[in-house]
Amino acid sequence: MHIFVNEQSNQFHLTNGKISYIFNILKNGSLGHLYFGKAIRHRDDFSHLMRNDIPTPASCHYFQDDPAFSLETIRQEYPVYGKGDFRDAAIELETSEGRIGNQFTYKKYEISQGKPKLEGLPATYADGNEATTVTITLFDDTTDTELLLTYSIFHHYSVITRSAAVKNSGSDDLYIKKIMSASIDFPDQNFSMVHLSGTWSRERHIKERELVQGTHSISSIRGASSHHHNPFLALKRNDTTEHVNEVYGFNFIYSSNFLAQVEVDHYQVTRVMMGIHPHQFKWKLGHDESFQAPEVVMVYSDDGLNGMSQIFHDLYRHQLIRDPWKTDERPILINNWEATYFDFNEEKLVNIAESAKELGIELFVLDDGWFGKRNDDTSSLGDWFENEEKLPNGLTSLAQKFNNIGMKFGLWFEPEMISPNSQLYNNHPLWVVGRKGEHLTFGRNQLVLDFSRQDVVEYIYEKMAGIIRKTGLSYIKWDMNRNITDAFSSALRLDQQGEFFHRYILGVYSLYEKLTNEFPEVLFESCAGGGGRFDPAMFYYAPQAWPSDDTDAVERLKIQYGTSLVYPIYSMGSHVSASPNHQTMRSTSLDTRANTAYFGTFGYELNPLELSEEERKIIKEQVQFYKKHRRLVRDGDFYRLVNPFENNETAWMIVSKDKTESLVGWYKVLATPNPKKQQVLGLKGLDTTILYEIENTGEAFYGDELMYHGVTLPTEFNGAHHLKASLGGDYQSIVYYLKERRTSNDARTCI
Ligand code: DGJ
Repeated sequence: MHIFVNEQSNQFHLTNGKISYIFNILKNGSLGHLYFGKAIRHRDDFSHLMRNDIPTPASCHYFQDDPAFSLETIRQEYPVYGKGDFRDAAIELETSEGRIGNQFTYKKYEISQGKPKLEGLPATYADGNEATTVTITLFDDTTDTELLLTYSIFHHYSVITRSAAVKNSGSDDLYIKKIMSASIDFPDQNFSMVHLSGTWSRERHIKERELVQGTHSISSIRGASSHHHNPFLALKRNDTTEHVNEVYGFNFIYSSNFLAQVEVDHYQVTRVMMGIHPHQFKWKLGHDESFQAPEVVMVYSDDGLNGMSQIFHDLYRHQLIRDPWKTDERPILINNWEATYFDFNEEKLVNIAESAKELGIELFVLDDGWFGKRNDDTSSLGDWFENEEKLPNGLTSLAQKFNNIGMKFGLWFEPEMISPNSQLYNNHPLWVVGRKGEHLTFGRNQLVLDFSRQDVVEYIYEKMAGIIRKTGLSYIKWDMNRNITDAFSSALRLDQQGEFFHRYILGVYSLYEKLTNEFPEVLFESCAGGGGRFDPAMFYYAPQAWPSDDTDAVERLKIQYGTSLVYPIYSMGSHVSASPNHQTMRSTSLDTRANTAYFGTFGYELNPLELSEEERKIIKEQVQFYKKHRRLVRDGDFYRLVNPFENNETAWMIVSKDKTESLVGWYKVLATPNPKKQQVLGLKGLDTTILYEIENTGEAFYGDELMYHGVTLPTEFNGAHHLKASLGGDYQSIVYYLKERRTSNDARTCI
């Protein structure tokens, strides 16, 4: 049993033996929140968990017929404004005559096995053995509206998902001004809020702030989840570390405007809300029409932040990313962007592909510049046909040449964009986002195509599908290089312009849905000027994403470390690029660049024709190394060991589920003068009883020693012992491969 319903006490208890989530029906008919956390034994009545220690003196606002009942002090599941709770509400509806204020009361519940699909939206999925769902229906007499709150509990993960939907049962139109997907009130404020924020080229850095009375939020109103804030937040206890104690993680499966908010009230109650950003949102609902809000994933861990991450990783690998890509191995790719930028022709591309093939690389990705008249970023977006000057024989011939070489073929698109200097713009000026005749705001010389329009989505689908069919593409990089301004659709009526942003992203999802259904064998990698749309909704369609345009190995340590808080490492496109790096001008060794990139979906972003023989030899070995270990990277448990935001070093590791093998990465940014002679790195997640052989050195140690004492790192140059030193200088790194040694049974063997 995963959902207990007690009709006497009006309580619902969702539990899977790892977590419990308990709520009840309050005396005014709304829902109260009782508990979310580590599993507690079921009992018939949990009403003692209701907060009743706060009196309702003059400062409180209470019910007409019951001074002891105040929404100001009761923890709630889905609060409304105007009935005594002065904190932010989860929902705001307005009738066509302008009446505001809602009062939803409980009507019924329905339990189902598995998880219903959210129409038109990406979401986690589960069958009857994997999750159980309860949907609570509430009704607001004042607006004739049904509110459906859906909760799914996963059977094997410490995860609850939530979403909300509204149906207008009245005869008049209704406007949704705000609809959060989830809201939850915690009884105390003893938390720090952790989030992933940054900007272009330094996305998803870890930020942390202690909660105090007031509102703390992160958000996006850019029409994309954004480089600046990821739709994720965690509340961690003040003594929670990477590996111990409580943390709650919240992630929004959505790629457009979002609000993730934590409000601490005057009684230290902490309210977390997540949903579509209400800014400029106004959705018109006609009679019998419904609106479905996207899904929030809520994770509980008492194994620290790393424990939370492992739950997110497992959930997303098994219940979000879809077949065939949750099991298929991803090809090692070479992307020509940093190798050629816009300056290429067929011969150059074929030469690069041939040279890359010799290195063992499996997929060639032709990036920006292959279409229309595009020779720089000022034209041709929307003209999805070959650039005849660069590719006079066309894409089909190019695809054939790659095929002959034995190389898979991938192509870059920026489907949602349009250049004013394009045929598409001349033919369809009204397909642009923005009001006709107004000065529009540009980003990278381009405008945005109105994906809220079905005809636009259909047109782009035809173009992309045609190219996939004629070239047999294996991979598509779907880019989006600017955010949305001038939000206005010429296809929507004036009183529906508040629907634009959401309709736009529904258009994006519908195109992804169509293409991935028709071409499931095509691997999609999402990208938005780097990591500007790195969110779980994208992973439903595109199982990997480009985390950042910053390919510098040292910068990637922070980006990958931060991103791993939520997203599986196999979802991050990680490429070895040229040195000096094109974003930072930093020079790093080929080893360090690969040692960082191994912890992701591996590839190259450089010109192999410019490599020395020695470099080619190293790259061949790197490619073989990744091929040997990519299953481990895909399926293993990831552990963060040393935090680059706090240290000059970074370390992480991945351990196979059966614990027989592991990859450990250690990185040091700046050299230390006269360093410690013997530095050790404590490992995690190993089996204490397994003897592990370190492939690099041939030494073998038991898991307990490697975890409790640590693996001894190579000796660093210290000005005197240069002969013994195997590391020296800035940007050093090492990756160890550990494998169970089955022949020895001597615990102390060190060979
Ligand atoms: C931004 C992407 O992140 C880059 O990798 C590259 O594809 C460029 N766009 C091309 O315009």
